[in-house]
Amino acid sequence: MYNDKVLDHFTNPRNVGEIENASGVGQVGNAKCGDIMKMYLDIEDGIIKEVKFKTFGCGAAIATSSVATELVKGKTVKEALEVTNKKVVEALGDLPPVKVHCSLLAEEALRAALWDYAQKEGIEIEGLEEPVEHDHH
Ligand code: FES
Repeated sequence: MYNDKVLDHFTNPRNVGEIENASGVGQVGNAKCGDIMKMYLDIEDGIIKEVKFKTFGCGAAIATSSVATELVKGKTVKEALEVTNKKVVEALGDLPPVKVHCSLLAEEALRAALWDYAQKEGIEIEGLEEPVEHDHH
């Protein structure tokens, strides 16, 4: 059902953990399955220096967050905004269709963390909107 890359990121997820005094923290949940993801960003001079995540979720949620952290590490805030769930799924090769919604958690947690960062810094990030709670099906 899952390809090797997904299994690799699931069994050996990268960047798991927390960042103390993070520049931005975002937490999102999927109301349908109850899975939760929290993402921590450490941003210096507009560059994402460090990124960590914690997921209480399914294998696909873990694999997609893992790969999402790899995609944004070392990138600018603007580049990080381009990391959509589609990009995450592409980076993983493929996900079973029923699991694609799980990849939304990674994108949303990332955007929520960027939003938190912008709030703390008192800046506006172009193309970034306030995260909203919603249901995924
Ligand atoms: Fe909940 Fe995958 S089943 S995120």
